[in-house]
Amino acid sequence: VSEHPPAVEHLATPVSAGDLRALAELLADAVDSGAAVSFLAPLTLDRAEDWWRTTLNSLHPRAGTFIVRDAAARIVASAQIHPAWAPNQPHRAEVCKVMVHRTARGRGLARPLMLAIERHARDHAISLLTLDAKRGSIAHALYERLGYTLAGTIPAFALDTDGLTPHDAVVMFKHLA
Ligand SMILES: CC(C)(COP(=O)(O)OP(=O)(O)OC[C@H]1O[C@@H](n2cnc3c(N)ncnc32)[C@H](O)[C@@H]1OP(=O)(O)O)[C@@H](O)C(=O)NCCC(=O)NCCS
Repeated sequence: VSEHPPAVEHLATPVSAGDLRALAELLADAVDSGAAVSFLAPLTLDRAEDWWRTTLNSLHPRAGTFIVRDAAARIVASAQIHPAWAPNQPHRAEVCKVMVHRTARGRGLARPLMLAIERHARDHAISLLTLDAKRGSIAHALYERLGYTLAGTIPAFALDTDGLTPHDAVVMFKHLA
């Protein structure tokens, strides 16, 4: 555990080629680790880079990408907040792609990232955060401890990274005071 709280940074766009590569490696590492982050294994770095490029090029004006860098300034953790598209949900945003590289896990990076998401939400008049997670995952436990409420469980919501095994998802929400 580090003595100092990690510096969470708001990632400005456009991002450098080096940052794009590191984000791709972070996503590929999460898939390799079996995490439920949309993709099946193996995820090539080119495909991961394509996904990040498309996502970062089409961000909602009130969206935010938060990252943590290691001592060598390499991105090792990320989390995104995507405001709802719907005009009748100006107060809601989805939390996505909360990922910490396996080399940096267990050092308390995820919690400050999630708190940065909450600050960003408040600053942008967003008062409701929603997300889904694989039931029973570390992420699920993290969101519970951060005060997210379970809306329900959806059986067989997605496939494990093997592309074969269905898993349940928890849908959770948090109203910001
Ligand atoms: C979920 C994830 C982001 C947590 O990142 P992290 O930086 O290792 O987490 P932290 O060190 O900040 O720990 C967060 C909490 O989880 C707990 N935790 C961390 N690793 C754990 C483990 N292996 N088993 C059980 N609990 C664990 C910590 O005790 C901590 O609890 P606390 O905040 O109440 O003290 C990381 O495991 C990850 O990237 N997983 C793969 C991607 C993923 O599944 N993302 C979610 C998609 S919905």
